[in-house]
Amino acid sequence: MNQLEKILRPTLAHIHPYNSGLGLDEVKSKYGVTEIAKLASNENPAGPAPQVLAALKLASSDLFLYPDANSAQLATTLSDYLDVEADNLIFGNGSEELISIICRSVVQPEDRVITLYPSFPLHEDYATLMGAKVERIGLTDALETDLNALLEAVNKPAKMLIFANPMNPVGTWLNPQQLKQVIETKHPDTLLVLDEAYYEYAVKGDYVSGLTCLMPDDQNWIILRTFSKAWGLAGLRVGYGICGSKQLRQALDLTRTPFNVNAVAQLAATLALQNDDHMRHCTAETVRQRDLMSQKLSARGYKTASSLGNFVFFDVNRSSMPVADSLLKRGTIVKPWKQDGYDTYIRVSIGSEQENTKFLADLDAILPPDHKRPVSA
Ligand SMILES: Cc1ncc(COP(=O)(O)O)c(C=O)c1O
Repeated sequence: MNQLEKILRPTLAHIHPYNSGLGLDEVKSKYGVTEIAKLASNENPAGPAPQVLAALKLASSDLFLYPDANSAQLATTLSDYLDVEADNLIFGNGSEELISIICRSVVQPEDRVITLYPSFPLHEDYATLMGAKVERIGLTDALETDLNALLEAVNKPAKMLIFANPMNPVGTWLNPQQLKQVIETKHPDTLLVLDEAYYEYAVKGDYVSGLTCLMPDDQNWIILRTFSKAWGLAGLRVGYGICGSKQLRQALDLTRTPFNVNAVAQLAATLALQNDDHMRHCTAETVRQRDLMSQKLSARGYKTASSLGNFVFFDVNRSSMPVADSLLKRGTIVKPWKQDGYDTYIRVSIGSEQENTKFLADLDAILPPDHKRPVSA
């Protein structure tokens, strides 16, 4: 064991670096391309509402002050917007920070934590880091969550059940009846962390938020959402949790760094909520484009998962890394999935119409539509 290994938590050895992909400038300079379709991180290409951008230009006068540690104005606005108690709301430097806060607050070594697989990697990474034994519930051949396996797993005591609905990277979801079944079957001592990062895109599907079916006598839950996706504010880092009780929120506050959400992010998120027409308009367009993208990929013979998110997950039937690399050279950034068993899949975010068209043209140039599929690696 070397000197560094002696001081690091042993659980770090089980964590893979986060696959954040290349940024716009990196791709431009590395591959000499000027037109880029950035379709790797499920962002809203239209950005935030114009009112948010206008206010941000004037926001610099208070930058010498620490931000409000409780994001009070944002909490009041969000409480009215969602019709939930402001006392039950917690804010994070992105919802990913809230996942970390929750794991640091509740997970102990050897705890049983249940999640879905493939998954947003941080759902299991932060739990693993705290020493949890993570149990993954996989997909059926139809790329849907294996509901029976999930129900069987959650029926037994576990410290935490954490999953996204709709699920990232697949886009599949538990319908209202299935979600209710999971909530009713979950052991009462298990904390349910329901990650609704893609909630705003899903509302037109056979979908409900966990908020509508949580049980009044069980307060062991937290719903996570984010301003990074539909609200167009990924660069400012602000997400929130709706906690089952004020006491749970207060407990989580103990492991939150006091000034975790910066002042500009608080202002932008508040204004975004007050001007939600923009978000609604963008999500309606993205949903339309997503359904078109799914149809077009399926028509080309790719196995494509049903999605209620702003992304589509599909199988290129060969190692997806080289395909993604070839796309990069043409200026199209997608996410080749790297988790075991899914490394022939690509997750493509839904961008502007122009970006989506470029992606399909670049994909066709690399894997011509008339070539025979499936092709072995
Ligand atoms: C399911 C899910 N949860 C949480 C996040 C984190 O979002 P943020 O930290 O930007 O709020 C993401 C981002 O891709 C996600 O896909």
